[in-house]
Amino acid sequence: LDSDEMKLVKTSWEKVKHNEVDILYNIFKQNPDIQAKFTQFAGKDLETLKGTTSFATHATRIVSFLSDFILLMENNKNLPGIKVIVNQMGQNHKNRGVTKDQFNEFKNTFFEYMHASGDLQHAWNDAFDNLYYIVFSNL
Ligand code: HEM
Repeated sequence: LDSDEMKLVKTSWEKVKHNEVDILYNIFKQNPDIQAKFTQFAGKDLETLKGTTSFATHATRIVSFLSDFILLMENNKNLPGIKVIVNQMGQNHKNRGVTKDQFNEFKNTFFEYMHASGDLQHAWNDAFDNLYYIVFSNL
């Protein structure tokens, strides 16, 4: 990502990163197959789940991961650091049977949530390319 793209990703992320529950709610709402992969959430009513502590805890894990990833990208493209955290996440998700299609569903729903279009979409697309290039090599 060049510095303009990095700025777009950072500023747009700052605006939504506190809506972690809302982000995960949208992901599950639009992709029930993703919710179904969670033993603690599978088959449960999403409207009820949304208000629970375990839902908030998981939402925070995902958002914190993305915040770390963005920080490492900004840190002079800290590739070794990125590889460590993303390979670990990729291995964990491989072990849970998460598919590339599901990761792409996540990305598409996230883009809708961000109302990403034009330059903003391009910047986030490059960020997810960096992320998924490493994740997919683990699946
Ligand atoms: C943990 C599923 C995508 C980040 C988990 C867990 C499951 C899961 C079942 C374990 C939860 C627990 O037992 O507490 C999925 C599915 C996805 C997906 C089905 C489909 C797209 C993502 C994405 C990110 C992410 C895109 C990051 C951007 C994490 C993190 C954890 C986690 C940080 C906790 C640490 C770990 O176990 O690796 N995920 N996930 N997940 N997920 Fe995902």
